[in-house]
Amino acid sequence: MSISGSDVDFISQVVRARSAIVLDRSKEYLIESRLVTLARERGDASVTELVAKLRQQPSGPLRDQVVEAMTTNETSFFRDAHPFKALSDEMLPQLLVQRGRERSLNIWCAACSSGQEPYTIAMLIQELIGADPSWRVRLVATDIDTKMLARTKEGIYNQFEVNRGLPARLLVRYFARHGMNYQIDGRLRAMVETKFLNLAESFPPMPACDVVFLRNVLIYFDVDTKRAILGQVKKVIKPDGYLFLGGAETTMNVDDAWERQTVGRATVYRPR
Ligand SMILES: C[S@@+](CC[C@H](N)C(=O)[O-])C[C@H]1O[C@@H](n2cnc3c(N)ncnc32)[C@H](O)[C@@H]1O
Repeated sequence: MSISGSDVDFISQVVRARSAIVLDRSKEYLIESRLVTLARERGDASVTELVAKLRQQPSGPLRDQVVEAMTTNETSFFRDAHPFKALSDEMLPQLLVQRGRERSLNIWCAACSSGQEPYTIAMLIQELIGADPSWRVRLVATDIDTKMLARTKEGIYNQFEVNRGLPARLLVRYFARHGMNYQIDGRLRAMVETKFLNLAESFPPMPACDVVFLRNVLIYFDVDTKRAILGQVKKVIKPDGYLFLGGAETTMNVDDAWERQTVGRATVYRPR
């Protein structure tokens, strides 16, 4: 190890204070390897130098770079398949009837990473509603990581990323070649509104949501943070809305204000 124990503790503390991400001593290797990459990108001579700079300015822009370096951005199109099948076969058709009068839908994809999740939802909406101008669909994609938000906005994916989970017919229908990569259609990019939102803080004003995707992010937090986030989500979700969590996440024993339902082969949570 070229990083000292006290530097590991300091980094964990800074990252947790800003993002609520828990990095304990078992994550020493991850912390070090990500800081090595960041120090190299920034031109710092070593991780020790980078940490020393952070100690001098623990809440400046370097803090945000360190937090971004510590986030795990693993994602893919149609990740876990079942939630998206339930969304397109059950929830969206029902919501289109239930919201038929106001013709408006608000969907929030919290912790959107590089955008495959919001664009999966955008493709499903496009398949169902098509170009019907009478519907106003607001699809908000948020994350703490500004690099990921920039990637989401750009909507450019490499061959490996489009090979993971994206059906060939949707690749053909909604993407165009962009050099060696693929860029998602401008219509779908225009549907997705990207925004910085730190789940560990008070949420900024959000539209009342019909569906919230909060997947594969609660796992990084302690139980009190999970409870606080679920409490805030409860305030922005409509009383008949749907909340999707990741496969390893649940509201059980965290916040009993949610009722677990099975829709098809997906698990979804509804406000009680
Ligand atoms: C593993 S990805 C999940 C992506 C997507 N939801 C999925 O399930 O495929 C976790 C994301 O959570 C974001 N994240 C971590 N801490 C956060 C926080 N405090 N507020 C908002 N986003 C956060 C990370 O930047 C990362 O993009």
